[in-house]
Amino acid sequence: MKKFIIGNWKMHLNVHEASLFVAKLAQTVPTKRNVEVVICPSFIALQPLSLQINYRQMKLGAQDCYWRDSGAFTGEISATQLRGLAQYVLVGHSERRHVFDEDDREIRFKVQAVLRNGLVPVLCIGETATERSDGDVEHIIGDQLVSGLLNVGADQIDEVLIAYEPVWAISTSDKPILPEPQDIEAAVKIIRAQVAHMFGREAGKNIAVLYGGSVDKDNARTYLSVDGIDGALVGGKSLIAPEFAGIVEIASEIAKSEADKDE
Ligand code: PGA
Repeated sequence: MKKFIIGNWKMHLNVHEASLFVAKLAQTVPTKRNVEVVICPSFIALQPLSLQINYRQMKLGAQDCYWRDSGAFTGEISATQLRGLAQYVLVGHSERRHVFDEDDREIRFKVQAVLRNGLVPVLCIGETATERSDGDVEHIIGDQLVSGLLNVGADQIDEVLIAYEPVWAISTSDKPILPEPQDIEAAVKIIRAQVAHMFGREAGKNIAVLYGGSVDKDNARTYLSVDGIDGALVGGKSLIAPEFAGIVEIASEIAKSEADKDE
């Protein structure tokens, strides 16, 4: 199965810097048939980058969107407005949930809006450190999934990507707090079981599940090799071209060895 490597640039780089950085990525990121590479710049850079990137090499994603298609919603950007500029949209990223207090209802509406507009939602879920120490992981990520996917049709579930990002493991590059591969494997099992429960066994097996949280080129092999993981959502290291390119290269090697095993 294809791997997904998605770079989340967060609130970094102005339009000019974004364009220069994409030119650097164009030279460093390998184009691989077995890896879908997506970069998520800020909204303002999407339009110029949509004319600059080579779509065979990478696609564009937005970091968020509003759930109404149009109307009097000052300052918001809808999935309808993103059509033609982005192919993917991150929904419910932990910073949206915890810094901007987005709730499960809003996130559910956003997932629907993204699908309604023919784009791919990347539904981000994950527990906080306290929720983990309270032993609530299964319950928290189960609830986030049920709520986020509630109105997704059985014919739409194949379009959805899930990113499992334990909140405590995000942006820890100064003092890395890394999850153990078995923690991620356990979470993936919960995610696939929940999706199977809601949409059937095939959907649970087929849905793409990504890991996110302090991924770099040194730990990428470990995380991308976790059973059931189909890719990575990369924050900080997606802004360092050789790191991001290295992660894409590793993803391709792992996809190839998995394909060889299946033959
Ligand atoms: P990080 O961010 O790789 O810097 O931890 C991941 C994310 O927030 O998606």
